[in-house]
Amino acid sequence: MPETAGPPVSVTREKLIDLLNDDLEREYQAIIAYVNYSQVLKGAQYMNIASELQVHATEELNHALKISYWVDVLGGMPAVKPKNVKTSDKAEDMLRFDLENEKETIRNYRRRVKQADELNEFALSEDLREILRDEQDHLNALATALGVDTPDPGIADA
Ligand SMILES: [Fe+2]
Ligand SMILES: [Fe+2]
Repeated sequence: MPETAGPPVSVTREKLIDLLNDDLEREYQAIIAYVNYSQVLKGAQYMNIASELQVHATEELNHALKISYWVDVLGGMPAVKPKNVKTSDKAEDMLRFDLENEKETIRNYRRRVKQADELNEFALSEDLREILRDEQDHLNALATALGVDTPDPGIADA
């Protein structure tokens, strides 16, 4: 292990790898949910958001590739299982599931940016910020489709 300088950090590299694998499982969950919901959503008023969800699906795949790249670079093994995906035949349920998942994802990435910075992994935090920009956009699109104000997800504890 290289000598480290500066203030003590709240997260180790090993812990960061575990947390990134958690993020990766959420990305797999998002890919599957967006693939499913974009096809299952019915109703004329939902056709715009259905095609938007297809775009989200491809963005989530890019996030999964980027996060697995970092898990590998940091010396871990990228996760291969998604977090649980809920299904429904009601359009509003699907959009709410997505909204809640995006909130959870944003809460976690906000924390992850700070943790990457703490470990001086600035290239990682830069990539996380770019991912966050997409996730905020997803959250906003879902809130708009649901006719609600875009919520503030806050930040995860760790
Ligand atoms: Fe994502
Ligand atoms: Fe997203």
